[in-house]
Amino acid sequence: MVTKYWKVDPDRVSDNGGEIVEAAALLRSGDTVAFPTETVYGLGADATNTTAVERIFSAKGRPSDNPLIVHIADAGQLADLVEPTSVTPDHHRLMEAFWPGPLTIVLPVKTGSISSLVTAGLTTVGVRIPDHPVALELLRKAELPIAAPSANSSGRPSPTLASHVREDLDGRIGGIVDGGGTGVGVESTVIQLVEGGLYILRPGGVTAEQLQSTLPAIRIHETEREDVQASETPRAPGMKYTHYAPKGYMHIVYGDDAPAVAAWIQRDIQAAMERGESTGILTFEERASQFEADLVIACGSLAEPETIAQELYAALRKFDQQGIQYIVAEGCPETGIGQAIMNRLRKAAGHRLVRV
Ligand code: TXA
Ligand code: MG
Repeated sequence: MVTKYWKVDPDRVSDNGGEIVEAAALLRSGDTVAFPTETVYGLGADATNTTAVERIFSAKGRPSDNPLIVHIADAGQLADLVEPTSVTPDHHRLMEAFWPGPLTIVLPVKTGSISSLVTAGLTTVGVRIPDHPVALELLRKAELPIAAPSANSSGRPSPTLASHVREDLDGRIGGIVDGGGTGVGVESTVIQLVEGGLYILRPGGVTAEQLQSTLPAIRIHETEREDVQASETPRAPGMKYTHYAPKGYMHIVYGDDAPAVAAWIQRDIQAAMERGESTGILTFEERASQFEADLVIACGSLAEPETIAQELYAALRKFDQQGIQYIVAEGCPETGIGQAIMNRLRKAAGHRLVRV
């Protein structure tokens, strides 16, 4: 299959009408199209068409028990997708505060409204409005609810550039709309409101602190903490899979005493060098100069954790591009967007953590 490719300028979407109309027509014909959102690139298909949705799963090699997020252009489309009576004033508050934006809300699905492959047979569906001019224009032109997981091969870091999508999926999908780099860099926060609380099924671009300040009276449960394995609480099925992992061995080193952490990392890397392995360190701008390894990546700044999120997936891919065999990632504080960053890092590192 030849993958079509369109380059569009996100700041001048109205001038890119032709490209986006073509991409939307491909979606309407039942094919797959990758497109930028404010979080990561998504691989879209018509959520109402089972054959189209099957193409997403086969292109990515995605397990069929992992449901897809449905993307819409405006909240008016929600009534076609979910049980209207299930949408509460708290849901409306969240939509007003964070849509368009990186918040996916899980609600009871309206029977028959979308392919059951999208929900992986669950009775709920995750929905969001992406905050990206190219994504929004594509959704408007397609006039369909679009199911879209991240546009990577299953297990690899999510794509924040069109070149990452090509690396993984060229020849396996209908098209790629290249709108440049994404913004947030990690995926949307997936939440579900249940009696007595809000569950964060996956931490992401909207922080727990932001959710709490929008719904001050509600109790927030973070189900993605390592110690929560119980299945009686709502969960995002996708979170059980290994994800984002570079091909080399990786572990995380963290602790309160920054010089001690740095010394531990450098000793660990030294030992790997002596074993003859190629080595990499994933750290931050403030700290990179003290390290020596074959590849030291300064991934954003601790002073501005949003920049760490923006650069994280590209950094993980870089270790692979250079064939690094042994990687040490430095941990960051788990507040604000730091929760999503550490969640992705833990998965990338197969949950191997060293506390110094
Ligand atoms: O930012 C994002 O959310 C990106 C962009 C493309 O929108 N999409 C994305 O999709 O990250 P994906 O498929 O890579 O991750 C979707 C996550 C999975 O962990 C999945 O299990 C969860 O959302 N999810 C989807 N529907 C769900 C549902 N009905 N109940 C619980 N979890 C759900
Ligand atoms: Mg994904």
